[in-house]
Amino acid sequence: DWVMGDYIEEAVAKIREQVGDEEVILGLSGGVDSSVAAALIHRAIGDQLTCVFVDHGLLRKDEGKMVMEMFAGKLHANIVAVDASEQFLGKLAGVNDPEKKRKIIGGEFVEVFKAEAAKLKAGGNGHKGATFLAQGTIYPDVIESGGAKSKKAVTIKSHHNVGGLPEQLGLKLLEPLRDLFKDEVRELGVALGLPHDMVYRHPFPGPGLGVRILGEVKKEYADLLREADAIFIEELRNFKDAETGKTWYDLTSQAFTVFLPVKSVGVMGDGRTYDYVVALRAVQTSDFMTADWAELPYALLKKVSGRIINEVRGINRVTYDVSTKPPATIEWE
Ligand code: XMP
Repeated sequence: DWVMGDYIEEAVAKIREQVGDEEVILGLSGGVDSSVAAALIHRAIGDQLTCVFVDHGLLRKDEGKMVMEMFAGKLHANIVAVDASEQFLGKLAGVNDPEKKRKIIGGEFVEVFKAEAAKLKAGGNGHKGATFLAQGTIYPDVIESGGAKSKKAVTIKSHHNVGGLPEQLGLKLLEPLRDLFKDEVRELGVALGLPHDMVYRHPFPGPGLGVRILGEVKKEYADLLREADAIFIEELRNFKDAETGKTWYDLTSQAFTVFLPVKSVGVMGDGRTYDYVVALRAVQTSDFMTADWAELPYALLKKVSGRIINEVRGINRVTYDVSTKPPATIEWE
């Protein structure tokens, strides 16, 4: 609509004025905020922007592919993709404690990103070197970091809005979404041509599948979880509620699959199986501080369970998490 069109024009002019002929780096996660920030900044300064996408090996199925197709393929933005999955999985070997895992993933992320940023700052290859670091900070983040915050509130900040990173890198900060609420960021994203499904995605934690694999993280577990979770999300998008006409993906605030590293017995054909278990989690909430488990239709649960057990070799049992927050949390770790 024209209001958003005006907003984009104004925001673009502001970014051009602030950046001039200098260059900008942005950490792209595939999440809503960094994606919209990237699309907006790219609209304003095109090739003066370089996005860095770090794959820590704990992303959802096809996430890297999707980000590359959108930003490199469709928008023709400069993007550096770093596959650091082996490095992350190496650091996580033997680590069981959830908070330790978070620290390792967050810390490693900052290291990998800093190394890439330093290269881009140095310039070369036709680039004179970046002087700005862009972040997808939105208004609620600004408020949150000003006031008192819980331990979780600190970890909720994604790796991409790391406090102090611009100073450490000697880069100026560019935060074009600072005045916007989440729903405004989404509207902006759609107006900039980002796909609806990308802009209206459920939130995904920075540590990714790292906190959805209970205990030690292994590549084998992550690969199984990626497949199972993709099936769950696909069916949530397929199933519509008859009354509202909305998909169950849109009727839930967050939904995902959790990998339980325990084995249980099953049968398949003439044989006995002894395989892993996953739990499905789907919640409805307005603020993520309290949450209800979603009353998903049995037909949906049946479809998902049948597909996971038949299609994902290595998983022979699916459970549904019926715990409210509190006392449970949304994530299992
Ligand atoms: P819990 O599990 O605390 O989750 O009920 C509340 C919301 O926060 C997200 N969450 C995280 N996000 N890094 C993040 O970026 C984290 O370490 C983290 N832990 C939880 C969770 O997905 C939910 O939306």
